Amino acid sequence: MTTQAVPSFCLAGRDFALVIEADAAGMPVWRHVGARVMGAALPWRLADAMPPASFSLDARPALSPVPTFGTGWFGSPALLAHRDGGDFAQGFDACHFEWVDKPGHLRLTLTDSVAQIRLEQDVRLDPACDVAKLSARLINTGDSSLDVQWLASGTIPLPSTGDSEAMRVRYPIGRHNHEWAMQDEPLGKGIWSRENRRGLTSHDAFPGAIVMMPGGTAQSGPCFSAQLAWSGNHAQSIGWCDEGFHVWQSGMLLAPGEGRLAPGETLETPEWWLTFSREGSDGAAQNFHGAVRGAMRWPQGGMKPRPVHINSWEGFYFDHDEARLKRLADDAARLGVERFVLDDGWFHRRNDDRAGLGDWWPDAAKYPAGLGPLADHVRGLGMEFGLWVEPEMVNPDSDLYRAHPDWALQISGRAPITARNQLVLDLANPQVSDYLFERLDALLRDLPIAYLKWDHNRDLAHAAGPDGRARYRRQVAAVYRLLDRLIDAHPHVEIEACAGGGGRIDAGIVQRSHRFWTSDCIDATARIAMQRGFLGFMPPEIMGAHVGASPAHATGRAHDMAWRCAVALPGHFGVEMNPATLSADERTVLADWIAFYKAQRSRLHAGRVWCGDAGDGLAWQAHGDDDDLLLIVYRLSPTCQRMPPPVRLPMLDKDAQYDVQLIRETGSPGYGQPDAPAFAAMRATPLAVAGDYLAQIGLAIPMMHAESAAIYAIRRRAA
Ligand code: DGJ
Repeated sequence: MTTQAVPSFCLAGRDFALVIEADAAGMPVWRHVGARVMGAALPWRLADAMPPASFSLDARPALSPVPTFGTGWFGSPALLAHRDGGDFAQGFDACHFEWVDKPGHLRLTLTDSVAQIRLEQDVRLDPACDVAKLSARLINTGDSSLDVQWLASGTIPLPSTGDSEAMRVRYPIGRHNHEWAMQDEPLGKGIWSRENRRGLTSHDAFPGAIVMMPGGTAQSGPCFSAQLAWSGNHAQSIGWCDEGFHVWQSGMLLAPGEGRLAPGETLETPEWWLTFSREGSDGAAQNFHGAVRGAMRWPQGGMKPRPVHINSWEGFYFDHDEARLKRLADDAARLGVERFVLDDGWFHRRNDDRAGLGDWWPDAAKYPAGLGPLADHVRGLGMEFGLWVEPEMVNPDSDLYRAHPDWALQISGRAPITARNQLVLDLANPQVSDYLFERLDALLRDLPIAYLKWDHNRDLAHAAGPDGRARYRRQVAAVYRLLDRLIDAHPHVEIEACAGGGGRIDAGIVQRSHRFWTSDCIDATARIAMQRGFLGFMPPEIMGAHVGASPAHATGRAHDMAWRCAVALPGHFGVEMNPATLSADERTVLADWIAFYKAQRSRLHAGRVWCGDAGDGLAWQAHGDDDDLLLIVYRLSPTCQRMPPPVRLPMLDKDAQYDVQLIRETGSPGYGQPDAPAFAAMRATPLAVAGDYLAQIGLAIPMMHAESAAIYAIRRRAA
């Protein structure tokens, strides 16, 4: 056993640490990923604590941050590559450890002199939010081409617990109109894996997951969470390793041939964001909210209060009539709306979803004088003007396609595969991206546009360039470049990322956008679970949340106005319907909630978010900090108890006193339900309640109808 100090590298944050050891051969091995440890003084080498196991290699490898294939590691490798069938096995023979920025950014430069590759693995940790970012860069140093099948952004061990059944993985599945349906499963001893080949992030396989460690809950206990900052094909897996722990890995998924590297060429992965919290899944979510907030680029360098939207889509669809849309603007302004977004249907020959994509100029029949008069009308009412675009797409029935049929991604000899009657443009072709830049740039220069809703309404198939080779990966990089170029040219413009609702929500596109359209399903009751799934990875201020029509277009379910407003409240609030169809009473209720949102948005969007379930059909969500909270209690289904369960708020300071006031309920107080004196008292004036009472015994909840909300303000009392 070695007696000298074990060389190691520790990245430590608030609660999270990652430790890499240099083994006896100078190669990196993971020593720890998880709860914070103080620095890197290791008492023994990992190898010295690995008892020989029968039927094992004489030198059994430990888990490297970059495990390779064919040289002794039998688990999932971070790299799969070959040279015309040869060099299929990689094993690094040298590693240079370098602090690019001590102690937050470590780079491992690994070389394999036999397979002739160099691989740089970066590990960064932002201690302010406890989010690590792992990424890899592979360089072909040989003199023939190297075919890469798989290059993980990162590979980590999860701490060994001895009880893998008690470790649970939570992850979203879904579809268009029903995103963020969270699943919860024990990890067990197999491989949990998720893959996406739809060419964009996808509605069904968000590139992230949460791992609840034994004892972890929503508000307490150990929890890991990760997400890939990438808007294309991806894969992630958590596999049991018979050394006694799980290995988590994530990266972009390469189509056949996409990873071919000519001599000297480099393949770079997206960043894999990873966090750990002792404060449960809400703590991990909070870390991600911090990382996303830190990575976003806002006009003027900072986020302004999120303006209330009106969006024309569900109220008008393709039926654009300038006079009616001006009336929409008038009605919206009266309600207190601050930004008017003209959705699909405004451009050349766009009367339905069969034609027009690609021809990005106003339709002369609908807008004889262009969009200027409508935009000026909107601005004259004191609102910002926003416009919908779907730049990556083309309809075969468009002037653009007729002039440049070769600009669409396609495979020669195969009939094009359309979806929503559209094809995908080959953005990696500079002529295509220049055309799109010029069209969008002209719109942004000619019109007072403050906001673009950037949509993407189909999955990618036949994603080949003219050389017949797959271009999924290059497409994503080209979209990022186009967005970056537009943002550089028009830094005052905010961008909403939409892909048929939530098909492109990820930490890659968020670095070049300012809002997500969470889902095309605006049914308030269905939205609650979706929003909570979203908030596990993204902050509330970028969660597009609209008050839609009743019945909801996506589900046919009817809801009263106040319920729809209460559900949209915590996100970036908007309205998506024609207010002219509302009764005077409904308009009053909507205007009142818009005013309430404006009064609360700084609290809703600046601090933390906690999400819990009290049982018996009650879900709660708290926004703010433990000094000043807005608590929204949603009753989803009818109670089967004579007295509803209390809502426990474990994040509150148990030694503090709080003022608790019931400030808003959907419907009138009591809402036709039997009332009780405590609620009447809490409505009238703030009630002093001890923090430990609220944390351990819980806040009393009034009798509520199904699909109604109660909102409390909870403030720490000055000592
Ligand atoms: C899908 C989006 O999610 C909708 O909000 C709307 O913009 C339509 N596309 C327009 O075609």
